[in-house]
Amino acid sequence: MKNIVLIGFMGTGKTAVGRRLAGRLKMEFIDTDTEIEKATGKTVTQIFEKYGPVRFRSEENLVVEKLAKREGLVISTGGGILLNSENLKLLKNNGVLIALKAEPEVIYQRVKNKKSRPLLKGNLMGSILKLLQEREGIYNVAEFSVDTSRITQDAVVDKIHNYLLERKYF
Ligand code: S3P
Repeated sequence: MKNIVLIGFMGTGKTAVGRRLAGRLKMEFIDTDTEIEKATGKTVTQIFEKYGPVRFRSEENLVVEKLAKREGLVISTGGGILLNSENLKLLKNNGVLIALKAEPEVIYQRVKNKKSRPLLKGNLMGSILKLLQEREGIYNVAEFSVDTSRITQDAVVDKIHNYLLERKYF
């Protein structure tokens, strides 16, 4: 059975929705940022601050290589995971890619009180808009996407679940 891989920008709800979806489908849940933190013994913020983005992306790629060998997982990914095209290839190989989207203002509200996102600093709305623009289109590789701006996490899970059933992934 294929992995279900949630992709999308920061603050679109990948981790929260992924955990609920895994519970619903009785599948194991894995979050790539958490895996990186476990493997390195450092937080994502510490890795960015101490070693820089290149090191973080390399840790991210190592995690993807490991996860791509497994099956039956719900995987929530970091928002920049597709910046490396090898990650896309690996995740797609045995996974169904589902994108979560949200409006910039909603993303802003969701991330504004969290200190765990090293790429969003200084002018918060400015960095969100800039990164969204830089990454325009990268999440369109997904075969199904859900806008999480105005619906509950359970409703997002319902939509994904229905899609998977329709496509007979279960
Ligand atoms: C990043 C997103 C973060 C985390 C890191 C970099 C990005 O994950 O991987 O801070 O480049 O978009 P979330 O999307 O889970 O916040």
